[in-house]
Amino acid sequence: MITQIIAHRGSKGVRPENTIVAFNKAIDEGADGIETDVHLSKDGKLVIIHDETVNRTTDGEGRIFDKTLAEIKKLDAGAYFSEKYVNERIPTLQEVVDLLIQRKYHGIFNLELKTDKIKYPGIEQKVYEVLKGEDFPFHLVYSSFNPKSISVLHQLQPEVEAASLFKINTKAARRFSRRRIIQEWHPSIAWVRSHRFFLPHVQLRPWTVNSEDDIKYCFKKNFKGIITDYPTRALKIRKKMQG
Ligand code: G3P
Ligand code: MG
Repeated sequence: MITQIIAHRGSKGVRPENTIVAFNKAIDEGADGIETDVHLSKDGKLVIIHDETVNRTTDGEGRIFDKTLAEIKKLDAGAYFSEKYVNERIPTLQEVVDLLIQRKYHGIFNLELKTDKIKYPGIEQKVYEVLKGEDFPFHLVYSSFNPKSISVLHQLQPEVEAASLFKINTKAARRFSRRRIIQEWHPSIAWVRSHRFFLPHVQLRPWTVNSEDDIKYCFKKNFKGIITDYPTRALKIRKKMQG
């Protein structure tokens, strides 16, 4: 089995994370998948950013949940990374989906619902409205640290692949595996490297697999995938190891 290489927040190592340039870069590099994070704005719009606040990755301050989309769109989401990316904006989920359609992206689209710190009432239904039904070119995979989000998404779209995210293995992840609600675990690489016992029917896509040593370890173990900030690095190593 060839281990899938999934670009974490787009190619986060070389572009401002979770922006259109980062997703384009991941596609150009040949990543097998793209991972990204979704939150809800004050006016109920789905926006693509990792943190609950805009402080770290933009020129603004405050929580996403306290801002309207119009306010969020005024922020610069590229300059924090390099002045080359000034004017990059926080995209909406719809804008990212449109990009993947426009680029005819056949890889994995791993959407992480960021409901572990803020619950964002109704976010699962809103995500479903964007991603239901249509014949998308990409292969959709949902994930979340919050088991409730996984349950709700599974009820809405049982046919869509889902994964439990965790830093420390949770009861919910084991329960969902037994009930086949999820197909994979997306654990931290630290957890993977300190545990030798996995359930045989649960496949792994650890994050964030960046060092050569961690990448080689995951390829040797034939894990289903890795989530990495550096797809090109991982692709080069995979070529040597898995052909
Ligand atoms: O989905 C894998 C990984 O993104 C989970 O952690 O904090 O980078 O969203 P985080
Ligand atoms: Mg994530």
